[in-house]
Amino acid sequence: MKKDNNNNNSSPKGRATFGSRIGLIAATVGSAVGLGTIWRFPAMVQRNGGSAFLLVYILCVLLLGIPVMLGEFSLGRAGQSDPVGVFRKLSPKRPWWLVGLLGVVAAYVILSFYMVVTGWTAEYLVQSVTGDLFRPVDGLEAGSSSMFLAKMNSYISSPVSPVIYTFIMLCVSTGILMLGVQKGIERMSNIMMPMLFALMLIFVFVTLQMPGRDAGLEFFLKPDFSKITSRTCIDALGQAFFSLSLGMGTLITYGSYFPKNTPLGKTAISVSSLTLLVAILMGLIIFPAVMTFGLQGESFDGAALVFVTLPEIFSRMPAPGLWAILFFLLLVVAALTSCISIAEVAIVFIHDRFGLKRRNAVLAVMIPMIPLTTICSLSTGALPELKILGQSVFNFLDTFATNYLLPGGALLMCLYLGWFAPKGLLRNQLTNNGTLRAWYTTPIRLLIKYLCPLLIAMLLLVGS
Ligand code: TRP
Repeated sequence: MKKDNNNNNSSPKGRATFGSRIGLIAATVGSAVGLGTIWRFPAMVQRNGGSAFLLVYILCVLLLGIPVMLGEFSLGRAGQSDPVGVFRKLSPKRPWWLVGLLGVVAAYVILSFYMVVTGWTAEYLVQSVTGDLFRPVDGLEAGSSSMFLAKMNSYISSPVSPVIYTFIMLCVSTGILMLGVQKGIERMSNIMMPMLFALMLIFVFVTLQMPGRDAGLEFFLKPDFSKITSRTCIDALGQAFFSLSLGMGTLITYGSYFPKNTPLGKTAISVSSLTLLVAILMGLIIFPAVMTFGLQGESFDGAALVFVTLPEIFSRMPAPGLWAILFFLLLVVAALTSCISIAEVAIVFIHDRFGLKRRNAVLAVMIPMIPLTTICSLSTGALPELKILGQSVFNFLDTFATNYLLPGGALLMCLYLGWFAPKGLLRNQLTNNGTLRAWYTTPIRLLIKYLCPLLIAMLLLVGS
């Protein structure tokens, strides 16, 4: 993560850089791997009929995600500023900075629902520690999915506790962001990310022994092209951008902290393959278990996969409480490193644009989050009548922002980089000003110039 001198220094010369290459990758993977990859991905697979979704998702990551990621890194490192500042600096007399502004707004909107789900994970962590998660409910079979469903409803849909947990997570993020203790987070992601992988491998090992394994693997892995619909495509596109933290300036911001000699290509490959790996492991964990416990079916809401199915798996393993604590602890950490990266976009914007001290910029961003997250949280359970365009506020933010704002932002950015940016910007960034032999420079430039805008525009049209 960023060095602490970022706190009070806004001049480009004093701009912070990441400490080490490992730290830089850990921080970027920390941003990418979060609720989107662990919680939202299996939900999307479930909603879109399984393997068809996985296939389109992988294609989106390879063909669109990696080039767009390289585009964001390049813009950030070339412009050395917040997403609006980058466009202002690179093309001063043009309105491209509006693209940066769109990113900042999208980040803000997404943060409000992201914080709510982070609050849920915190509540699950606390309930795992207290043991309440596994305490029987009157009238429901102990350890059954109906029992865990009842628990989920009581945790998530009650008017009070999710609001409180969301508020707590807001405070934790604010604290970390204010201290600018990026070193703490960097170190934490260095430890937590490998732990997350190790734990996931153990869970995969367990679920691959379950009787529903074959049905689960078939559902998740066996391609069925007939199931690919326009819905699948737009969901996969949104999910690819969401899970790689693309389309709203997060990686422009992080790119602006990359040192001059960071090889952007290698970094993008590491980040996207690790993210893809986490997503696939998650599918290998969830779907065999879903089939084993007979939880599949239209009525089963995707959100419940992590909050109901996983606890059910844990309850069938020795020491369920321990597994639940470990899993939800890691999920909280994964979510926090992502929250921070989303908030950072808006914070750096305010800090760089309006010259506010970092502390004040953090407060300016986080305080309005309190009412926003409260509305969002209430709309999922206690006050379902709160609606935007006929959808719950939460769903609206989740689907609209993800499926349209992120790809829309990425589309405009590709158009800019391909056709309007200063000549040689992308080439210079990908080759570190000619010091690096990067064979992929030309293919990536062509992808960004032609294929990405075309494909994204097509998918957006198909999806609407
Ligand atoms: N990628 C994160 C996740 O999967 C969420 C996230 C962080 C994000 N920064 C972002 C999503 C920027 C979209 C854009 O949980």
